[in-house]
Amino acid sequence: SDGKLRYDGRVAVVTGAGAGLGREYALLLAERGAKVVVNDLGGTHSGEGASQRAADIVVEEIRRAGGEAVADYNSVIDGAKVIETAVKAFGRVDILVNNAGILRDKSLAKTSEQDWNLVHDVHLKGSFKCTQAAFPHMKSQNYGRIIMTSSNSGIYGNFGQANYSAAKMGLVGLANTVAIEGARNNVLCNVIIPTAASRMTEGILPDILFNELKPKLIAPVVAYLCHESCEDNGSYIESAAGWATKVHTVRGKGAVLRPSIDDAVTPEYVKNVWSQVTDMSKAKHLDAIANASGSLLEVLEKLKAGGGEAVEDTFEFDSK
Ligand code: NAI
Repeated sequence: SDGKLRYDGRVAVVTGAGAGLGREYALLLAERGAKVVVNDLGGTHSGEGASQRAADIVVEEIRRAGGEAVADYNSVIDGAKVIETAVKAFGRVDILVNNAGILRDKSLAKTSEQDWNLVHDVHLKGSFKCTQAAFPHMKSQNYGRIIMTSSNSGIYGNFGQANYSAAKMGLVGLANTVAIEGARNNVLCNVIIPTAASRMTEGILPDILFNELKPKLIAPVVAYLCHESCEDNGSYIESAAGWATKVHTVRGKGAVLRPSIDDAVTPEYVKNVWSQVTDMSKAKHLDAIANASGSLLEVLEKLKAGGGEAVEDTFEFDSK
């Protein structure tokens, strides 16, 4: 081969593939040999209405370029139906890119329960439903690549996006556990954090950024994450403008909140050591929940052995 990453024999489901980022993912995967399910409900950016047009146009584009694709018009909330389209048309599912999304931006005070629910249903529940439906197929064939789509709005917060931020951070949590549950069967799950010009960000991103933030620049990153040669699992990858980076959570060294195991923790003591509690100069990334609980056991043992001073050497496990 000429070293090109290929997806021949693979079946990819891309949700919300009728426009924006999803369209670029679908076009690239199809160009590289994948059979693609172009899922799109075809409603407005705030989640109203439905239309077959969005998905049909992308399927047409793929076929004209010599690729293989079928349209799926279900809402991702009906994840089982979306995956069924893949299995009926192509007999399997190897790749799932959870990408479909809507916005209902309001300040917290003005966010209605409906705004909250619909945003959560499409982003979080939709990704859950599609992933849950694809999971048994992927596990039984010992191969699967799953992408969750988060957002800097979730990671950092963004005025007027309480519902969206919460759902997008929820997807990080979902990915964390899917990555663990699939690992044994080579079903890997990673998170993309994109910034791109689309109908979703029109009028939100400054013009000078908008014109340079082409969705096409992010598609190769997602395609690589979906390739069999990519062994990342549980990574959060931010990408935009022809650039990408891994993003990590980190945990500080912390502080012991009492002189010895026999002492109570008091608000005054907490206040006194607060600068140590919030000091991130020795922060590290933890690879697994076991490391988090493991370090708690160390804290306890050292407290028992002779008090707060002795815990200096906690957090000596490896970090990557
Ligand atoms: P977009 O609005 O261009 O595309 C989203 C697509 O999802 C639309 O074609 C829409 O019809 C479809 N969709 C909406 N609800 C659906 C449902 N229930 N079932 C199936 N399809 C549905 O938006 P864009 O920008 O391409 O966004 C793609 C993903 O990337 C979204 O999850 C978004 O939250 C996320 N994202 C985008 C950023 C950006 O800068 N564009 C930033 C961070 C995250």
